[in-house]
Amino acid sequence: LRALARTNAPHLSIGTAAAVIPTMTDSAYRSILGREFSILTPENDMKFQFIHPQRNGYAFAEGDSLVEFAERNGMAVHGHALVWSEANPRWLAQGNYSAAELQAIMEEHVKTVVGRYKGRIKEWDVINEPLKDEKFNVNLGLRDSIWFKAMGEKFLDIALRAAHEADPDAKLYINEYGCEAEDDKADALFTLVQRLQSRGVPLHGIGFQVHEDIGKDSDGTYDPVSASEFKRTAKRFTDLGLEVRVSELDVNMHGKVTDTLRSKQAEYFKSILARTQANNRFTSYAMWGFTDRYSSLQPEGEYNEFGNGLIYDEHYAPKLPYHKIKEAL
Ligand code: XIL
Repeated sequence: LRALARTNAPHLSIGTAAAVIPTMTDSAYRSILGREFSILTPENDMKFQFIHPQRNGYAFAEGDSLVEFAERNGMAVHGHALVWSEANPRWLAQGNYSAAELQAIMEEHVKTVVGRYKGRIKEWDVINEPLKDEKFNVNLGLRDSIWFKAMGEKFLDIALRAAHEADPDAKLYINEYGCEAEDDKADALFTLVQRLQSRGVPLHGIGFQVHEDIGKDSDGTYDPVSASEFKRTAKRFTDLGLEVRVSELDVNMHGKVTDTLRSKQAEYFKSILARTQANNRFTSYAMWGFTDRYSSLQPEGEYNEFGNGLIYDEHYAPKLPYHKIKEAL
């Protein structure tokens, strides 16, 4: 994939999330990771609770080893994620901090982590999932995180400015899920970006997660957002001067896995790439892992998902989506 993209779509990185454990312990995993992808997103190892587990203590070993792995294999790293309400360590979530203390903690965290990898990590998800979820809120404001409660919407400005100060050359992203369709949540993200731009906040790109569901089970029928709809949404953002990336693509299968479903899934992986790659501000096509062996989508796993969502099976055989992605390149 990486070799094809370098020849046929040089503006485009092919990416995957990767975790430190299989990267260090599983040689089959490691060889595919280092060969097929040109950008690596640390799946968990740079999240707040792992990289900053104590008030005055950072744990950089795992992040460092992923960065070193990427460098040895000619890959870039997409840093993930500096400020995310779901990733707060206990000392932070349960501490009794004033608004001023929280602001200082956030700024110090962002500057320390970005500064640590200055010049080596050239793009960061500074803000992850700032919006409320469309399913539970009609009023699509920002999530009620500790950051939002302490600083209001300005927490975004403060975090992005701190990252920019720590590494003025890094590209700064907001990463969000469920904004691919032409709907209220995409509008909420769009108007948020416009407000940030009007305040002169450094922001260079938007990551669209593109976690999708497909198939049919007792809860219903699942159809992923159409790739042409996503193409139009992405263009609204590139028209604002931003880069966009697919940041966490996976296509989770529900119900009985049939050949029809397999081919639908594969066509979906292909169509997302085919529809977006012509846009030269579309910088990467990144998946949330590559093998069903370690996918966050597991039967009855954390997200109550059913799996089969990635492009290699659990024994590292490339699946249909892998071949379809090649066709699009
Ligand atoms: C997930 C990881 O895949 C899991 O291993 C972890 O337990 C929780 O986080 N949106 C994001 C990612 O931005 O960081 C999340 O990753 C998936 C949803």
